[in-house]
Amino acid sequence: MAIVEVNGTRIAYDRRDENAGGPPVIFVHAFPLNRTMWEPQFEEFGGVFDVIAPDMRGHGASELDLERVSMEQMADDVHALAEALELGPVVLVGLSMGGYVALAFAKKYPDALRALVLADTRATADDAEARENRYATIRDVAANGPAALAEKMLPRLLSEKSIEEDHELVLTVRRMIETNSAAGIAAALAGMAEREDSSGVLASIAVPTLVIVGTEDAVTPPADAEALASGIAGARLERLEGAAHLSNLERSAEFNTLLKDFVGGLDAES
Ligand code: MLT
Repeated sequence: MAIVEVNGTRIAYDRRDENAGGPPVIFVHAFPLNRTMWEPQFEEFGGVFDVIAPDMRGHGASELDLERVSMEQMADDVHALAEALELGPVVLVGLSMGGYVALAFAKKYPDALRALVLADTRATADDAEARENRYATIRDVAANGPAALAEKMLPRLLSEKSIEEDHELVLTVRRMIETNSAAGIAAALAGMAEREDSSGVLASIAVPTLVIVGTEDAVTPPADAEALASGIAGARLERLEGAAHLSNLERSAEFNTLLKDFVGGLDAES
């Protein structure tokens, strides 16, 4: 793990391997996880592509200095990290909250994007009920801590089959959630509650885009992925059979194949 100070905050990230070929690939994690959720992708691509995974502000080993961390702030941090590492245009891979950040990045920094991968995410903002639920969760986490949130979220993040059969995966995700602070979780929840609707950004996206969704994703269901893919010119939509929300972990081999073909094919494109 390395630390870089950007926008007045210390951001933690992993990088492997800066001398590899192709465009750099930055992975942005889901809520309330951290950069290590991309371990199956780092194992596969380290040495093949230059892969970078930061902890968003308030998650993992990154600092928290705000009560609410907006998706734009997270996008600013990712952009500042890319500048600090002198990466040039990047392939941005965002899963769920990471996708909200990727869309904020696409709006603000279109010239810094080489390509986009939007996994298990959506463009729309929260409705009033979803927003109220986020604030109820903030109160709940303040009272009962991140472990209670993990208990509630696990059945939504992973499929029933994974919960029953893949105890190692369940433990890995649980640990990621539990090692975040209540303050970091609250700041991200407030940022997601107040995030803008990014539907209007889709038509302006002019880079190759891959949309991935687990067929069993109940948090950001396949219909959200279909809306993303139909709003972005030339976007490709891929469904991962049987995966729930964390499709990169539940179907890592298939996820990696899609990513490898997509990133590997970029050199051949204009
Ligand atoms: C995530 O996986 O990042 C979150 O579940 C997204 C959300 O709560 O909207």
